[in-house]
Amino acid sequence: MLGLLATTTSAAVALSLPEVAQADDFVTLPSGIKVLTIREGEGATPQPGDTVSVHWAGFTKGYQGKRARECGGKRIDNTSVRDEPYEFKLGSGQAIKAFEIAVSNMKAGGIVRVEVPGELPDLAYPLDRNQRFTGELISPDLKIYKYRYGPQPYELGGQRALDFVLDNATLRPFNRTLLFDIKLLAVRKARS
Ligand SMILES: *[C@@H]1O[C@H](CO)[C@@H](O)[C@H](O)[C@H]1NC(C)=O
Ligand SMILES: *[C@@H]1O[C@H](CO)[C@@H](O)[C@H](O)[C@H]1NC(C)=O
Ligand SMILES: *[C@@H]1O[C@H](CO)[C@@H](O)[C@H](O)[C@H]1NC(C)=O
Repeated sequence: MLGLLATTTSAAVALSLPEVAQADDFVTLPSGIKVLTIREGEGATPQPGDTVSVHWAGFTKGYQGKRARECGGKRIDNTSVRDEPYEFKLGSGQAIKAFEIAVSNMKAGGIVRVEVPGELPDLAYPLDRNQRFTGELISPDLKIYKYRYGPQPYELGGQRALDFVLDNATLRPFNRTLLFDIKLLAVRKARS
């Protein structure tokens, strides 16, 4: 627990996708990602080299299916469900850029909703499968590979939906936009 600057109880994340999501409320950052602040944090703002701990829930906007559309997308993952936060080191290239950018602008305790437009794939998981995967299989049966950049979806069905959208292996047009809810739980300072 060395250097733990701020924590909040993870159980406090209570969001459902249709509840907010007025497009006008989002602020577009210079990178092109859109961010909606759901709750301002009151803790530390992480700096490059710090290790951050987040809860996140991800959705693919354009995944087909009536139910998916009604829910605002198909779920990729939701770490709050199993209370297993995702940790990464800021500025290290461990996480996709959308996570780096969003978290860099947050304070511990804050919650944001991030929209990564499908037209900006460089900010999310690479479209090129050689770039996206490490080559390590996490489900030999389903041929699901580990991602090179986090967060790695825990739910196999969620990753399949995400891969399906990224791989675009259909002729039907769809929206590749990804939505993430991110709660910054804690910031652990880099050792100086
Ligand atoms: C994620 O799971 C938590 C705990 O079950 C729930 O309260 C929350 O609404 C979920 N988030 C989203 C965006 O669905
Ligand atoms: C992706 O989907 C669009 C719309 O259906 C299509 O025009 C395009 O050719 C697809 N690209 C690939 C690489 O499959
Ligand atoms: C994709 O969905 C997002 C979120 O609803 C929307 O803002 C965006 O305009 C859509 N993009 C396309 C190309 O339809």
